[in-house]
Amino acid sequence: MTKVIALAGKGGTGKTTISALLIKYLRERGLTPVLAVDADANANLNELLGLKIEITIGQIRKELKSDLPPNITRDQYMEMKVHQALVEERGFDLLAMGQPDGPGCYCAANQHLAMTMDHLAGNYKYILVDNEAGMEHLSRMNLRTIDHLLVISDPSARGILTARRIAELTGPLGITIKQRCLIVNRVPEPTPPELLAKIAEAVSGSDLPLGGLLPASPELVSQELSGRSYLDLPAETPVVARAFAIFDSFIGV
Ligand SMILES: Nc1ncnc2c1ncn2[C@@H]1O[C@H](COP(=O)(O)OP(=O)(O)OP(=O)(O)O)[C@@H](O)[C@H]1O
Ligand SMILES: [Mg+2]
Repeated sequence: MTKVIALAGKGGTGKTTISALLIKYLRERGLTPVLAVDADANANLNELLGLKIEITIGQIRKELKSDLPPNITRDQYMEMKVHQALVEERGFDLLAMGQPDGPGCYCAANQHLAMTMDHLAGNYKYILVDNEAGMEHLSRMNLRTIDHLLVISDPSARGILTARRIAELTGPLGITIKQRCLIVNRVPEPTPPELLAKIAEAVSGSDLPLGGLLPASPELVSQELSGRSYLDLPAETPVVARAFAIFDSFIGV
C-alpha cells in the first residue's frame, strides 16, 4: 500500500528543507520507490536535490487545452506527458505541479490529471507532498488519505498557534488524516528552557502532538549557498541525525 506524507506550514518555515531531508531518509532506509511532489507554484525542491525540472503539471494542463496530436486520447496524452515530467533519480521520482489553474479553469484537464495520478500513485511505496501554505493540490491530485501530516513551525508560540490552525484547516477538504504532528524548526542550540516551556505549553491541549525539534543548522545554509544537494549531507550532520530520529519515530523501520 502506498503511504502519503504531506508537509504543511506557514511560508518559510522549512517545508521544502524537511521534504528534502525526508527524501534522503526514505532513500537511505530503502523505503523506496518514492514519488516526491513539489506542489509549490515556484518549484524549488529540485534545487535542494540538485535536479532540473523540464516540464510541470501546470504546463501539461495548458497543453491539454489546445489541439492534441492525432490518434491519441486526452488520457493517453496526459499519461505520456506526466511520465515525461517525472525526474527519475535513484530511489525516487520528482514531479513539479507548477502554476495552478488560472481563470477559466479547464476542469476536464484536472480530471484527467487526477486519473493519471491515481494510476501513478500505485507504483510507489511513499508519496511525499511539499505543499505551499495551502493544501489545494492534495484534492487536485485525488489524494484522499494522508498517512502522516507534518506541520512545520518556527520556534515561537505564535508560530505554533498558526501551525495548529493550519492542521485544523485540512479537515474540511474531505481528506482523511491518519496521523499528524508538529515539527518545530530552526530551534536555537543550546535551547533556552523558556523556549522549551513555551513550545510545550503551545502544544498542550491540542490534537497536534509534538513530533520533534530541529536545530538551526549552519550546514544547511552552507550546503544551499554552495549549490550542493542535501542528499549529499553526511549522516553525522546534527540536523540530519535529528531529522532521521524524528522520521524514525513515526515512520518506523
Ligand atoms: N533548520 C534550518 N537551519 C537553517 N536554515 C534553515 C533551516 N530550515 C530552513 N532553513 C532555511 O530557511 C529558508 C526557508 O526554508 P524552506 O524553503 O525550506 O521553507 P518553506 O516552508 O518551504 O518555504 P515556502 O513557504 O516559501 O515554500 C531556506 O533558505 C532554508 O535554507
Ligand atoms: Mg517550500
